[in-house]
Amino acid sequence: MIIALIGPGRVGRPLARALADAGHQVRVLGRAETVAGEHHELGAADLAFLSVPDQAVGELADQVVTYPRLGLVHCSGQLPNRNIGPKVAMFHPLMSFRGAESGAIFQGCPVGISGPDQVTAALFSLAKQLGARPFVLDDEAKSSYHLAAMFASVFPYILLLQAKELAEKSGIASSDASIIFGPIFRRAVQHLEESDPRQGLTGPVSRGDAQTVRQHLELLAGDPERAELYRSLTRLSLRYARLDPGARESLEQALRPEPG
Ligand SMILES: NC(=O)c1ccc[n+]([C@@H]2O[C@H](COP(=O)([O-])OP(=O)(O)OC[C@H]3O[C@@H](n4cnc5c(N)ncnc54)[C@H](OP(=O)(O)O)[C@@H]3O)[C@@H](O)[C@H]2O)c1
Repeated sequence: MIIALIGPGRVGRPLARALADAGHQVRVLGRAETVAGEHHELGAADLAFLSVPDQAVGELADQVVTYPRLGLVHCSGQLPNRNIGPKVAMFHPLMSFRGAESGAIFQGCPVGISGPDQVTAALFSLAKQLGARPFVLDDEAKSSYHLAAMFASVFPYILLLQAKELAEKSGIASSDASIIFGPIFRRAVQHLEESDPRQGLTGPVSRGDAQTVRQHLELLAGDPERAELYRSLTRLSLRYARLDPGARESLEQALRPEPG
């Protein structure tokens, strides 16, 4: 296939590498080419990927929609195709990118795909050639999917940063604190993949241990944002714990903020 890729950024660069590695002819266009109106470059393309920031997709799509033979493809997990145009499809790699990765990052990567049938069929085939795992993502379901992805990627990263900073406060060297949580974090992912949520829950809530929860909250007494986060997450943990009513009540009591 001849594929045009507009926007050689964090997603665009590794995607262009992966498509070229799979044997496609890839023409990369940066801002300079699109500003210069070199859209005729797209005339020979079967598909054009718009791996530009979400805010730029709509305007760019209007400028180039007539060129590629099959259609346009954006990479946003958030933008509904129907808001952009009739020939527009989505190819959303469920991965975080920094731009320096090789094309191999697509191996095993889930890719949400939606759009007109002909473009969707071509994108499924492309994804499989990259070794990715394509799945259909309904246009109407995108917002909830994108929200779920935040909980799977951005928030765990923020939580790991909290773990690192709390460990450093307790005297663990910064270089150690950056790596010691990796294995236990990966084990949590394994629990999710292997068992039902109740079997995977570990920690004081799973044991009905209200005393430890109280101690943790005491340690966070001067740190209201983390204490609030701890309370919220511990309350959510209660949804997945198998506890007798007495143990559940003790935990709920431990989580109540001190009066005043
Ligand atoms: N980053 C991720 O981890 C990730 C993961 C999955 C999906 N996505 C989605 O992938 C898309 C691209 O995100 P990104 O993180 O790769 O963005 P990015 O790193 O900011 O890269 C965007 C690229 O588009 C170029 N660009 C912006 N406006 C343009 C225009 N009008 N014409 C031509 N090129 C233009 C930028 O050029 P300049 O450098 O000159 O501005 C840059 O090369 C977004 O829809 C995003 O939601 C991102």
